[in-house]
Amino acid sequence: MKRYSEQKGTKLNKYGNNRDMKIEKINENKKQFLDLLLLADESEIMIDKYLPSGDLFALYDDDLKSVCVVAPINSETCELKNIATYEKYQGKGYGRALIQFISDFYKNDYKTMLVGTGETPAILSFYESCGFEQSHRVKNFFTDNYDHPMFDGDIQLVDMIYLKKSL
Ligand SMILES: CC(C)(COP(=O)(O)OP(=O)(O)OC[C@H]1O[C@@H](n2cnc3c(N)ncnc32)[C@H](O)[C@@H]1OP(=O)(O)O)[C@@H](O)C(=O)NCCC(=O)NCCS
Repeated sequence: MKRYSEQKGTKLNKYGNNRDMKIEKINENKKQFLDLLLLADESEIMIDKYLPSGDLFALYDDDLKSVCVVAPINSETCELKNIATYEKYQGKGYGRALIQFISDFYKNDYKTMLVGTGETPAILSFYESCGFEQSHRVKNFFTDNYDHPMFDGDIQLVDMIYLKKSL
C-alpha cells in the first residue's frame, strides 16, 4: 500500500524557476475543486459519477494551480478522468507535472493508464508529449451522450479518442 501522498520540491526547471510544488491526494470534500473540474468536464452529472470513487490530486505552487482525477477501470488499467489547470496558469508545466506524478504513483498498481478526450489537436499533443499514444476511438460519443453540441473553441467534439500509457 502506498502511503506517500505528496511530493515537495519538484522543480519546473524548464521555465527557469525553482518552485516548491506540492501534490496532495485529497480524500475529503472533493467538491471544493468543482470550479477546476468543470474546466475539463462541463457536466457536473458526469463528474459526480467518477469523483466519489476516483482519486483526486491537487497541485499547489503557493496556491492551487491544477487538479486531476484517476479512477480504476479493472485490475490492470486505470483512467485519467479529469485534468485541469486554472486558465491563467496553463502552459507553465503544471499539467505535465501532475501526469508525471500520477504515472509514478500508480506504477505498481496498474499496467496501463487510459485517458479519453475529444479530437482537439492541442489536447492530443499535450497527452502525447506526456507519454500517451493513441489507442482507439468511441464513435459519436459526444453527440450520443450529451443533449447539446459540445465544442472546444471552434472544434465540435464528436468521437472520444482514447490514449494509453504504459506505467
Ligand atoms: C490540458 C491542460 C490540463 C494542460 O495543463 P497545463 O498545466 O496547461 O499543461 P502544461 O503546462 O504542462 O503543458 C504541457 C504541454 O502542453 C501544451 N499545452 C497545454 N495545454 C495547451 C493548450 N490548451 N493549447 C496548446 N498547447 C497546450 C503546453 O504548451 C506544453 O507544451 P510544451 O511543454 O511543449 O511547452 C490545461 O490546458 C487545461 O486545464 N485545459 C482545460 C481543461 C481541459 O481541456 N482538460 C483536458 C480534458 S481532456
